[in-house]
Amino acid sequence: MNNMELLKEAKLARERAYTPYSHFKVGAALLTKSGKIYHGCNIENAAFTPTNCGERTAFFRAVYEGERDFDRIAVVGAPEGVEADIPTAPCGVCRQVMMEFCDPETFVIVMPDGKGGALEVLLKELVPYGFGPDNLK
Ligand code: THU
Repeated sequence: MNNMELLKEAKLARERAYTPYSHFKVGAALLTKSGKIYHGCNIENAAFTPTNCGERTAFFRAVYEGERDFDRIAVVGAPEGVEADIPTAPCGVCRQVMMEFCDPETFVIVMPDGKGGALEVLLKELVPYGFGPDNLK
């Protein structure tokens, strides 16, 4: 599964987004090291703060299924009715959830690069000097 294919999966997931308040739709496709894909979308709430981002939906679905080894995640986001072709980087809360389950040295976040291709960054680039499970050992 290459980055462009994974971005396509994230775009499919984005179609499931429940966004009656922001109308900003996010989709995510989380690839495990064994090659399985878990999809997620953002799910909003009238009380606003219970909203769950697309990335966390994908992680929580995967973790519930027993997955612990993750390779990369593709994320796409854009306002409703707009093609999700420019980068939408994960929010801080989602970055912290990634820190819980992924090695920041190797886990990759894939986004559209705005030029028809894929941009990839490492988790350690999004969370420099991050806090994770190792800090509690
Ligand atoms: N959102 C995500 O799903 N992922 C992100 O990383 C950024 C923000 C969602 C939350 C909310 O439903 C909408 O985008 C606007 O913030």
